Amino acid sequence: MFETLTPPKEDAILKLMALYRADDRPGKLDLGVGVYRDDQGRTPVMRSVKAAERKVHDAQDTKSYVALLGAPDFGDALRDLVLGDAVPADAVAVAATPGGTGALHMGFELIRKAAPGATVWLPRPTWPNHAAILKHLGMEMREYRYAAADGSLDFNGMLEDLGAAQPGDAVVLHGCCHNPTGVDPDAQMWGTIADLMNDRGLVPMVDLAYLGFGDGLVQDAEGLRLIARRCPEVLLGVSCSKNFGVYRDRVGALMSISHDTGRIDVVRGNMATLNRLNFSFPPDHGARVVTTVLTDADLRADWEAEVSEMRNRVNSLRAGLAAELQRQTNSDRFGMLMRQKGMFSKLGLSGAEVEALRNDHAVYAVGDSRINIAGLKLEEIPHLAQAIAAVI
Ligand code: LMR
Repeated sequence: MFETLTPPKEDAILKLMALYRADDRPGKLDLGVGVYRDDQGRTPVMRSVKAAERKVHDAQDTKSYVALLGAPDFGDALRDLVLGDAVPADAVAVAATPGGTGALHMGFELIRKAAPGATVWLPRPTWPNHAAILKHLGMEMREYRYAAADGSLDFNGMLEDLGAAQPGDAVVLHGCCHNPTGVDPDAQMWGTIADLMNDRGLVPMVDLAYLGFGDGLVQDAEGLRLIARRCPEVLLGVSCSKNFGVYRDRVGALMSISHDTGRIDVVRGNMATLNRLNFSFPPDHGARVVTTVLTDADLRADWEAEVSEMRNRVNSLRAGLAAELQRQTNSDRFGMLMRQKGMFSKLGLSGAEVEALRNDHAVYAVGDSRINIAGLKLEEIPHLAQAIAAVI
């Protein structure tokens, strides 16, 4: 039967990781996959996470199954972190999933189950795996305009395109630090988005993978909290990979919010069934570590300080790169870097320019010219700016 299989379409980000590894040029720059690195170019286990792991190791006396939705205290702690008191706890069903991707996968499956004909609207551009998962699930999808060529939000285009969505369609929104552009709506725009969702009967599905990397853990959640407060039904896929640095442990959750609390038990039951059908019990180790960090006052304070350190480092790299690009290109063409948030920015280069960056300068950016700013070291900024100035 295997003779019927054809080679899969390669994921642009994973392909770039392999190309980078195979390159033996000294001074090569990996600005591809969205992984945070420190000044030494390492992705260390965070202090608070290491300490929580010790605690978990010492306290854990069984590896028996937990529950189909994961440990309830994990769900509670993550819900409080993300949603605060925006909605009552009994309006939220939480399922632990293997990472944020597991959460998005379950969210799409839940939509397919509840509304088989619904179209899922994706921002253009978006994380390539959104469309790949929807295609795999055989679901209808359409795009709405999101980022303009000058690196700003095409808000009018977004509203116009979503004006064509049908009641019951779902709309993917990035909770903060949009991947790949770094372009986020402001508070007023979030309000307009909520109005549009409600006027047209659309269901927002928020992808939240970079909480804390924009302006702060609370500030970055303000837009999605507004959506959660104002829209009757919301799906929210949360990843702990980046802000807890637990990439390989696969920690995430899908949250389904329903203001009609009479429905929430049925929603929760369907989420448990989806976990059971896909992989049975979700992984617990990383979730237990995250719960320990969030519920132990000292560990939590240290983790918040670590997230601030990461954010400040990314922001100073952003400022350094923007200033150096202005100097080297003698223009404001890359001024948008300072208005964007989080680990990523899209430089607005052509495919040929991105290829020239890689071939001539050993600089690895994703094909759509997304760079992971957190992959840079301060001393590499001049080399990167020089390479960009040379290819444009
Ligand atoms: C990214 O966008 O680089 C990250 O979300 C990692 C991934 O899985 O693609």
